Amino acid sequence: MDIKIHDLTFEPFITEKEIQARVAALGGQLKEKFGDQEPIFIGMLSGAFVFMADIIRAFDGDCEVSFVKYFSYEGTESTGILNEVIGVGDEVKDRTVILIEDIVDSGHTLHRFLPKVFEKNPAHVEIVSLLVKPDALKYDVPVHHIGFEIEDKFVVGYGLDYNGLGRNLGSIYKLKK
Ligand code: IMP
Ligand code: MG
Repeated sequence: MDIKIHDLTFEPFITEKEIQARVAALGGQLKEKFGDQEPIFIGMLSGAFVFMADIIRAFDGDCEVSFVKYFSYEGTESTGILNEVIGVGDEVKDRTVILIEDIVDSGHTLHRFLPKVFEKNPAHVEIVSLLVKPDALKYDVPVHHIGFEIEDKFVVGYGLDYNGLGRNLGSIYKLKK
């Protein structure tokens, strides 16, 4: 069923069941690779908080959890500037960092954020994004684990918002033309 958020209409895109299956698989991959390293998961607020909660439980091993918060979006468009609200802490030094993103769109956020992580001298940085829009990418950013590659359409749900709303939807919806 279509839903309306503010002035826009969205249609069903990725079901809760499909998301949960993919997140479980990604969590298993991470466990296999980093299960013995007590990694620090760093979630990019706000969008990644739902994905983060699910993937750390799918990881099912010793890990620490932290968050950073940057923003560049207004409405459905990136402003091109990265504003820091909560930055990356010194606790990543010499640690395996697993960076959790909701979506990589232009890649601008990651491109600007990654140097801030490497500045703190982590032992390793692994990047996980639930969604990637390959046709929208403008920066060459490494995403090691991808939940779903999607078309270049604005999406909401499962943590992703449109002007503040839609984050609490269990499934993902895409903008209807
Ligand atoms: P990028 O910097 O262009 O890669 O965009 C990254 C950030 O923009 C994501 O972490 C989201 O917060 C936001 N964003 C990008 N595309 C969407 C979308 O389709 N829906 C909701 N938020 C989005
Ligand atoms: Mg985000």
